[in-house]
Amino acid sequence: MNTLDTIQARRSIKQFDKKHLISDVDFQTMIKAGMLAPTSFNIQHWRFLQITDKEKRRQLQDAAWGQVQVTEASELLIITANTKAWDQQPERYWKNTTEETRDTLVNMLKDFYRDREWLQRDEAIRSGAMAAQNIMLAATELGYQTSPMIGFDMEKVSELIRLPENHVIVMMLAIGKGTTDAWPRGGQLELDEVLIKDHF
Ligand SMILES: Cc1cc2nc3c(=O)[nH]c(=O)nc-3n(C[C@H](O)[C@H](O)[C@H](O)COP(=O)(O)O)c2cc1C
Repeated sequence: MNTLDTIQARRSIKQFDKKHLISDVDFQTMIKAGMLAPTSFNIQHWRFLQITDKEKRRQLQDAAWGQVQVTEASELLIITANTKAWDQQPERYWKNTTEETRDTLVNMLKDFYRDREWLQRDEAIRSGAMAAQNIMLAATELGYQTSPMIGFDMEKVSELIRLPENHVIVMMLAIGKGTTDAWPRGGQLELDEVLIKDHF
C-alpha cells in the first residue's frame, strides 16, 4: 500500500481474533515505526507499555468500562509519555551530532521548556499521539487492525500500570486481527470548516 492508501485503510475496529498472535518481528516493526515519529528537539517523550499479563489485561478491561478489545486483541499497548524527558540527559537526543551542535540544541531546549509545565505536558502528549498514529499506520500496512482508546478511568489505569511521576497516559492502543469490518465512517467535516486561510 502507498501511504495515502494506508491512511484510508486504517479504521478503528473493536472485535479481534482472540487466538491470533502477532510475531515479535511485526510487533517490533510497529514500535520502531512509532519511534520514528517526529518530536520537538527529538526529545522522544514516549514510553510504550506492552501489557502481556492476562490478569492485568482483565483488570484494565474493568477500568475501561468493559471494552472487549482490551482483552481480546493480540496486543495491548498503553502509550505513555514522560513530561520531564526534556530535562533528563537531553544530550542523548543529539548523540549523532557534533558537540557544538549538541550544546546549542540542549541549551535551546532547556530555555524553551524550563518552568513551562503546560508546554512540557502538551509536548509529551503531542509526541505520544504522533507515535500512536505511526504505529496504527504500520499495523495497517502489516495487515492488522487497531483500536485507539481513551475510554477508561485514568486514575485506575495509572495505578494498575504504576505510572511513574511526571508521566502521562496518551492513549491505549489495541492491535490485532480484526474480525469485523469497520462501521461506515461517522462523517468527516467539510473541508471549508477545517481549512482556514491566514486567520480566523
Ligand atoms: C484518542 C482516541 C481515543 C478513542 N477512544 C475510543 C474508545 O475509548 N473506545 C472506542 O471504541 N473508540 C475510541 N476511539 C475511536 C474513535 O471513535 C474513532 O477513531 C473515530 O470514530 C473515527 O473512526 P476511525 O478511527 O475508524 O476512522 C478513540 C480514538 C482516538 C483517536
